[in-house]
Amino acid sequence: MWEQVQQTVKYIQEKTGFTPEYGVILGSGLGSFTDDIQIEYSLPYHEIPNFPVSTVEGHKGALVFGTIGAKKVVAMQGRFHYYEGYSMKEVTFPVRVMKYLGVNKLIVSNASGGVKNTYKVGSIVLIKDHVNMMPEHPLRGKNDERFGPRFVNMSEPYSRKMIAKAEELAAQLGIEVQHGVYLGLQGPTFETMSEYRMVKALGCDCVGMSTVPEVIVARHMELETFGISVITDMGNEDSIESITHAEVLEAAKGAEPHVRALIKELILSY
Ligand code: HPA
Repeated sequence: MWEQVQQTVKYIQEKTGFTPEYGVILGSGLGSFTDDIQIEYSLPYHEIPNFPVSTVEGHKGALVFGTIGAKKVVAMQGRFHYYEGYSMKEVTFPVRVMKYLGVNKLIVSNASGGVKNTYKVGSIVLIKDHVNMMPEHPLRGKNDERFGPRFVNMSEPYSRKMIAKAEELAAQLGIEVQHGVYLGLQGPTFETMSEYRMVKALGCDCVGMSTVPEVIVARHMELETFGISVITDMGNEDSIESITHAEVLEAAKGAEPHVRALIKELILSY
């Protein structure tokens, strides 16, 4: 994989000559963040060597390069999910590439189901920790020490300094944020009532189908990582709402201007 990553990096560097400092992975309904970027290059995933090949028809995905103020950013417009059939190595390949393009700080966003009783649909959650219950581990197999160590310290997967900065900015901007522990499950089914109860019993506050593998791989390579989630539905034990993907996207859209503003300011000031 090392050679594949370096080959992809070389291709992108030759195409763009761009050295980003910040990586951003845009989750469900948060894709418009690219409007905040002064875009210099946009590379469709299917043109990038070694990138996972999309099996979904009409699947839109691109690596977007540009600036926010003086900060150089690469953003993933569209991510790869395990439930789509990709291996965890494929899901996390772009994170490896971002690292060797120059990224040292990664911001990951997602939509999730909430179980904490202070949450409501549209709540913005700063992820302070996660529980990994996905069925495949992205670091399983022979370890390549060039990327990072065999056994990865996960005592601070989400940067406390970035969380503190984001809280400060949220207060300044008048945006309400909460904290949470994110449980990563494979999906693609939403949780049953009993599974939502399990999420709570496990000490988690929200649940989703992404983020965890990307953050693990980011930490393997010592990227400073920040995670933000929009609660798009509440799984409250006995009164589960019936949720559709369209509703998830709509709820995420509602919080989108706030999440955008927060990420933008964080990039500008951290
Ligand atoms: N479960 C898992 N993933 C999700 C959910 C959920 O309830 N909502 C949005 N993404």
